[in-house]
Amino acid sequence: MNIVRTIADLRGEIARWRVAGQSIALVPTMGALHAGHIALVGAALSIADQVVVSIFVNPTQFAPNEDLARYPRDEAGDVAKLAGAGAHLVWAPNVAEMYPPGFATQVAVGGAALPLEGEFRPHHFGGVATVVCKLLSSVTPNIALFGEKDFQQLAVIRQMVRDLALPVAIHGVPTVREEDGLALSSRNAYLSEDERYIAPMLYKVITDVARGRDPDEAGQALLAAGFAKLDYIAVRDAETLGPFQPGTGRPGRVLAAVWLGKTRLIDNVSC
Ligand code: PAF
Repeated sequence: MNIVRTIADLRGEIARWRVAGQSIALVPTMGALHAGHIALVGAALSIADQVVVSIFVNPTQFAPNEDLARYPRDEAGDVAKLAGAGAHLVWAPNVAEMYPPGFATQVAVGGAALPLEGEFRPHHFGGVATVVCKLLSSVTPNIALFGEKDFQQLAVIRQMVRDLALPVAIHGVPTVREEDGLALSSRNAYLSEDERYIAPMLYKVITDVARGRDPDEAGQALLAAGFAKLDYIAVRDAETLGPFQPGTGRPGRVLAAVWLGKTRLIDNVSC
């Protein structure tokens, strides 16, 4: 498994596969890989000839007060996991490669990007869309895979690809969970032992909301259990992230973002 760091080297590898008529899947990541990422690689291997995994902690999707500096980084560990999983190529650019001096273009997002995360992290999806657009235009994959754990991100990326007619199929892959229900996330590493004990209640509560429990009352239960702050717990249309209209046949989604100590956890389930 090769590791490339520049777009020029990446394109050299891609060109060889294209000449051979092979299909390419991209799994974009910010590293600190866990079993959820490895499930994305597994899904990619089952649908494409060649699987590229990008590792890039994207600064433009973090606000100045967020955890960019302490975001977990372990490139050597990530590369070993990806080799074990059967990925074909790791693309690990540095910040200057992705945002060279003079970089001045942003993808502006609306629609599915505006509610929920968009209210609490207004800068976030613009940064995600910009970097994902550049990852896609650099790799030119047939398919790109994203975890449903970041469900609103997946909706925003689908919307961007549709709106800009980007020639790539977007595949969502179900969330991988610990045995107690906690969704795998690189940020789980921030949790203390006591917080880790409480954390699975988030999944339990959103599952209850999917079965009809009142979201406000469910949020109060999380606060009573030791969660520090509730950003939102809401039932939304699964595609637009706008209001959910029961009885229309459109799929719904329960989405939540809560703070446990200094760690912000997000999760979602279908309803
Ligand atoms: O989900 C992530 O890890 C990131 O938001 C992504 C899609 C790799 C863009 O930086």
